[in-house]
Amino acid sequence: MDTLIAFFSSSIGRKVLVAVTGLALVLFLVAHLIGNLLFFLGPDAVNSYAAALKGNPGLLWTARIGLLAVFILHMMNALTLAIRNRQARGPQYQQKDFMEASAASRTMALTGILILLYVFYHLSHFTLGLTHPEHFSMHDAQGRHDVYAMIVHGFSIPIVAWGYVAAMLITAYHLSHGIQSSLQTLGLRNENYVSCIKQFSVLLALLISLGFSSIPLAVQFGIVG
Ligand code: HEM
Repeated sequence: MDTLIAFFSSSIGRKVLVAVTGLALVLFLVAHLIGNLLFFLGPDAVNSYAAALKGNPGLLWTARIGLLAVFILHMMNALTLAIRNRQARGPQYQQKDFMEASAASRTMALTGILILLYVFYHLSHFTLGLTHPEHFSMHDAQGRHDVYAMIVHGFSIPIVAWGYVAAMLITAYHLSHGIQSSLQTLGLRNENYVSCIKQFSVLLALLISLGFSSIPLAVQFGIVG
């Protein structure tokens, strides 16, 4: 046990934790995106999906607590590593690292914090119903929480819809570096794969971001509503 604690407190242990939790968050995003795309199938598909999730509180709360734990582990360890790296390097190395690292990798802490702020807003909007309670209290003809109407009303407000699109661009930027970095930490470091992994990361980041953005954009352009 002591050895495990020592490993996960070391820089390499923390890097592994950041990589594993980062990839777990990407899996959550892909699953959340697939659920969200039901929006294009209409109100019944979205509302019955949401009702099915809420109808299984044991599973829902296990997933929520697991997700929160993964999120906290990811952030705390990533920030600890970023601070340690900064402190460990002298100014001459900082200059060299700055020139070698990509802009996305240099801004991971900043984009991560912006994503955290977005998640706070998102939860108070769609999960807690704090920002627009009038959108949250609607029910469909079967008496289910009208998640479809909540999304349409929410994204009919231009600042909300475009704010989501901006947040998705920031998420894409964070993921484009985060996915490749995690895969490399976990051992995919073979010279032959490096460019392939980079392309895969950028493509997946863009697909996730475009997928999520398609919903506020579809509402704003009157394609769905
Ligand atoms: C257009 C984009 C998105 C839409 C329309 C959307 C929609 C929703 C909705 C409707 C819920 C509440 C589900 C319910 O209580 O019935 C929800 C929950 C949530 N969303 Fe999103 N989401 C989007 C993007 C994102 C992104 C990019 C993230 C993460 C960075 C995210 C993270 C979450 C989390 C953590 C929850 C709470 C899950 C729970 O209730 O336990 N969402 N989302």
